[in-house]
Amino acid sequence: MVVDWDISQAERGGYPHFMLKEIMEQPDVWSDALLGRVQNQRVVWREMGLPASVAETVRRIRIVAAGTAYHAGLVGKMLIERLARIPVEVEVASEFRYSTPIFEPGTLVMAISQSGETADTLASVRLAHELGVPTYAVVNQVGSTLARESDYVVYTHAGPEIAVASTKAYTTQLLVLTLLALGLADLKGRGRPDLVQHLLSLPHIGQTLLGQLESVRQMAESLSLKRDVFYIGRGLDYALAMEGQLKIKEIAYIHAEAYAAGELKHGTLALIEDGTPVVAIVTERDVAEKTISNILEVKARGAEAWGILDRQITGDIPVDHQIVIDTPDPLLAPAIAALPLQLLAYWTAVFRGEDVDKPRNLAKSVTVE
Ligand code: G6P
Repeated sequence: MVVDWDISQAERGGYPHFMLKEIMEQPDVWSDALLGRVQNQRVVWREMGLPASVAETVRRIRIVAAGTAYHAGLVGKMLIERLARIPVEVEVASEFRYSTPIFEPGTLVMAISQSGETADTLASVRLAHELGVPTYAVVNQVGSTLARESDYVVYTHAGPEIAVASTKAYTTQLLVLTLLALGLADLKGRGRPDLVQHLLSLPHIGQTLLGQLESVRQMAESLSLKRDVFYIGRGLDYALAMEGQLKIKEIAYIHAEAYAAGELKHGTLALIEDGTPVVAIVTERDVAEKTISNILEVKARGAEAWGILDRQITGDIPVDHQIVIDTPDPLLAPAIAALPLQLLAYWTAVFRGEDVDKPRNLAKSVTVE
């Protein structure tokens, strides 16, 4: 008997692409990212790479990152500001490194990176050091340059990510940033033990959802024939929309734009015509009604509206197709809502016959300018 042994297939764990493997293993790596970092409904500071005594002195945070990590930073900003009430700015590293930042006392520069080798992110950290500002790296690659050069480092524990388009590195960054926001909130007497507890349920929720996303394939088949797609949302959903559109551009080569839902009417609405797909992410319960009225606006112009909707948001939501997600709290929705967005990009690229794991013109790690 001859056994066909395909080594690359084995490395992909039986999946046709690394990207799909990495999407599907997220519940497991989420458990790894959370492991040991929660005890008695509180964040364990010694597992966060930043001593509580230092964290206590932080008055402002400047996040620097590139690509997907930048999008994780946008989520991190909202979580830290809402939970811990510490002001956060998020900057693209390629801009930050050539800027003349004004650092107020008590500032911490936080660099987020999967590889820990992105040239612009490293340069940003070096600039912070030159100006005497402490740095904290949220990084996946153990022992990377960023990890070595930063004053403090926390690992995201996503494991090796091979596909160029980032998936599990992104969602583990979200989890670590959520832990950080909750830990900082606790230090400021604003602890949320309920949320800390709920965080531990995310791997299970993610696992269940991944088993129910067959309908994303139908959306993807339709999207694979389109020229443009728009992603809209408010708050955390807007930050997610930015990551959703990046995934489509990266691997499916379809023109995609993310818009703050309320900004649509200031320009982008003019581009909506019969059959234009609009992906609306609606997990922010407090502003859901507003986003729903934006969905009506695009529908009225002929858009095909697809919704990624939190089950708690009820009422008549005028979408043509929908993916319903369960989240214990809107603040914990981003990692869960990211799953259908990643699969939508993946399947769209597959339907178009693109090289999913190695998209044209892109590199996994951009170590030069
Ligand atoms: C490249 C990759 C992206 C990644 C970005 C930042 O553009 O293709 O997936 O988000 O670099 O990389 P980093 O390793 O710093 O997270």
